[in-house]
Amino acid sequence: MAKTVIDFTRMKAEKRRISMVTSYDYWSAKIINKSDVDAILVGDSLAMVMHGHSTTIPADINLMALHTNAVVKGAPEKLIVADMPFLSVRKGIADAVENAGTLCRAGAAAVKIEGLDGHEDVIIHLIQSGIPVMGHLGLTPQSIHAFGGYKVQAVESDAQHHLVQCARRLEQIGVFSIVLECVPQDLAGEVTRCLSIPTIGIGAGPDVDGQILVLQDMLGMDLSFKPKFLRTFLEGENLISEALNKYSEAVKSRTFPDKSESYS
Ligand code: KIV
Repeated sequence: MAKTVIDFTRMKAEKRRISMVTSYDYWSAKIINKSDVDAILVGDSLAMVMHGHSTTIPADINLMALHTNAVVKGAPEKLIVADMPFLSVRKGIADAVENAGTLCRAGAAAVKIEGLDGHEDVIIHLIQSGIPVMGHLGLTPQSIHAFGGYKVQAVESDAQHHLVQCARRLEQIGVFSIVLECVPQDLAGEVTRCLSIPTIGIGAGPDVDGQILVLQDMLGMDLSFKPKFLRTFLEGENLISEALNKYSEAVKSRTFPDKSESYS
């Protein structure tokens, strides 16, 4: 289990794999808190999963703080990283400090920042301010319009070289870990081998130090969503539908509530 970013570093040194999932709310955080999963990301994917948007772009700092605070209350035993949302690190250091402060005051122990180019100074400043930062390279969903869709990144050798350089630089400036999203397996393995901080993969193959999945995806809450990298560990959508139909049937057939479920 990872309660602090120091545990993350130690786990890589001890060659122990790190498991992470996302959480956006109190009730799922409580369940994760009792599980063996090492750490939680309050991802800006909550804009899509919880609020029905088609990208992560509509998430803003107040929405991130609201969800972060709910997760923190449910999972006091876990390291909780919160995403810095779209443009929240692009308006200069003072603005980024304010935004990161909002997430830390909501209870996050660390923040995750997509990319490096153009906001290296912000990452350095936050780390020097005592806020642990997790990097995120490869498919960075806040740049989805620039990428032209959700697709594998760093396929060409120039892009691969750039990603390796960014990963090395992120380590140099002090990030405690890097998410690698939707990149070729061999590239993720190369990055992982050349860093002493852990890499956390999603769609990056097995040769990384840990894995992260969106909770609702790995629980199969939308079985029609099946990207290549996703393994569903539960058929949540079917199980919940079945339970809802059983409940409805019990109400309609007047078998719920029965005597034991009623006050005398
Ligand atoms: O927002 C998110 O959930 C993420 C993970 C998928 C890495 O950034």
